[in-house]
Amino acid sequence: MALRFDTRYAGQLADENALNLISAEAAAVHATIHAGTGKGNDFLGWLTLPHDYDKEEYARIKLAAEKIRKQSQVLVVIGIGGSYLGTRAAIEFINTQEHNRLGGLEIYFAGNSLSSAALSNLLTYCEEKDISINVISKSGTTTECSVVFRVFKSLLERKYGKAGAADRIYATTEYSSHSKLYELAQQEGYECFLVPDPVGGRYSVLTAVGLLPIASAGVDTDILLHGAQDAMDEYSRSDNLFENDTLKYAAIRNLYYRSGKKIEFFAAMEPDFTLLGEWFKQLFGESEGKENKGIFPAAAVFTMDLHSMGQYVQEGERTLFETLLTVSEPVADILLTDEPGDPDGLNFLAGKPLSFLNRQALEGTRIAHYDGGVPNLLLEIDRADAYHLGWLFYFFEKTCAVSGYILGVNPFDQPGVEAYKKNMFALLGKPGYEGERAALRARLNQQ
Ligand code: PA5
Repeated sequence: MALRFDTRYAGQLADENALNLISAEAAAVHATIHAGTGKGNDFLGWLTLPHDYDKEEYARIKLAAEKIRKQSQVLVVIGIGGSYLGTRAAIEFINTQEHNRLGGLEIYFAGNSLSSAALSNLLTYCEEKDISINVISKSGTTTECSVVFRVFKSLLERKYGKAGAADRIYATTEYSSHSKLYELAQQEGYECFLVPDPVGGRYSVLTAVGLLPIASAGVDTDILLHGAQDAMDEYSRSDNLFENDTLKYAAIRNLYYRSGKKIEFFAAMEPDFTLLGEWFKQLFGESEGKENKGIFPAAAVFTMDLHSMGQYVQEGERTLFETLLTVSEPVADILLTDEPGDPDGLNFLAGKPLSFLNRQALEGTRIAHYDGGVPNLLLEIDRADAYHLGWLFYFFEKTCAVSGYILGVNPFDQPGVEAYKKNMFALLGKPGYEGERAALRARLNQQ
């Protein structure tokens, strides 16, 4: 099995007895997902995507990635939320956080904030480079993405002329009369890739949303998809949670939640998995946090965060459970050596690889946190490569859908995200928001 789920320290709340009691619920949810009869069932495209993806478009993605690598020094990926987190997670997971220092195509992410400082910085850097743009927005109307794209489009047109810019701009969006990005791409002649309608933003990393920039980063996307395909086959086989870890993980999360453990502390043992933690946070947070319910997902990296959040985890309010992600065969290792005189008292570690220290930190932490009242789950892969990441993406997506259904929410919508947008549009003076604007102005003036 490419991913091992170790529940040794899951505690009494999730023991065999508790799992037996929730197993029928989990099996029913599994059946609902596969029958497509649950809430939000028009967004189940991710379920079979690893096998059912558009093969013709995939061939175009590979050609476009090759062209980008030949034509440019820098690729700027413009998108927010599900339109960039999985991509960035994949590139850092496989090519490390230092990917832009390894030689070859550099990849930067923009459009995920409205920070003028961050954008100016990147624009200045791009002035002297040959660049391509991949603008990604399923809806094609997201403000952060559209505003930043406008700025980059004008930079490209100034550098390469209108036709030259069009040859370097790739748009990834849905085919819909509401997508302004789709219309613009048709008008300007940008190469366009489509996000399938039944795949929501945070479940879209294995569509063109992720595949084009990930392939441009030099990652073998065939292998990434292969990992996801094997995971899909594995986690479709059985509706018994004792044989299907997506069901087991989802069931355990809900058992904890029902007993007041409402925060999942997701910690990776590798800094290169930091963005995977951000993707995880979005996937679960946006899928489950609704109707005044939901497990709050927090993400951390160990051992770094043991020196910041470790105190809270060990002795703070007992509302946490912890999920650790580790890799058993690191891509590189370092052997610690003996030093004459033992000045720092570390000679007892001589001859040990650094990965051994990381492992002992993991084991020590699990037991300490468990003893402190924080149940612990462990996810372990053999290697941090494309195959295992494809597997992990699918594993988390399916777990999230099952967990959301057990919780009783629609894991595929995000109605709450609209509230801030409505206020922002009103304050910015967008036509159609005049009433909201007056009410907000009055509230701001009271402060
Ligand atoms: O999961 C989602 O649907 C969201 O997080 C979106 O990915 C995010 O809001 C960006 O939307 P869009 O791709 O339409 O610009």
